[in-house]
Amino acid sequence: MLRIAVLISGGGTNLQSLIDASKQQRLDGDIVLVISNRQSAYGLQRAREAGIQAEWIKDPTCVLKRLQEEKIDLVVLAGYLAIVPKEMIEAYQHRIINIHPSLIPSFCGPGFYGLHVHEHALARGVKVSGATVHFVSEEVDGGPIILQEATYIGDLESATEIQQRVLEIEHRLLPQAVSLFCQNRLKVENERVKII
Ligand code: GRF
Repeated sequence: MLRIAVLISGGGTNLQSLIDASKQQRLDGDIVLVISNRQSAYGLQRAREAGIQAEWIKDPTCVLKRLQEEKIDLVVLAGYLAIVPKEMIEAYQHRIINIHPSLIPSFCGPGFYGLHVHEHALARGVKVSGATVHFVSEEVDGGPIILQEATYIGDLESATEIQQRVLEIEHRLLPQAVSLFCQNRLKVENERVKII
């Protein structure tokens, strides 16, 4: 089984979706470490309740060392709001997965995180949004796309409602992408991800 680390900053509902998938043997990997850059992140508690090693590491430049000590195979960014250092991206090329709450390349890049993403979608009046799981490259939200799913949002009136609808997709998509990775079914060719 591959050894998975999940990096978070907040509530960790995506982390919870991975924990649940793992309990139901849908993940094909073991979550062995959860790291938060924020001490108060509720996700740390979710990890501890599931019996997973949970650590507060404030400085992102200290994370790579821990990943290597724990012989981590796959890193999942699940609402990790810190800049991932270049060294880590290089050491884990095509082995870091991120979930983003929009259909990339819409509403992504620097400044598009959390509720802001959905506020922009609402302000622009788009009828469709969704979620994207992608490999992490040095460009923010710029790496090869693994999975995307769209949802109609034209009936919603607030960014919070959009967030809720998109989160439902995220909670399905992220465990699915992690499972595909763990089964060695993702191949990156010319910046495109093939599912084999
Ligand atoms: C999610 O919307 C995720 O796409 C984004 O940050 C949010 C984290 O939510 N990257 P949670 O902490 O998993 O509940």
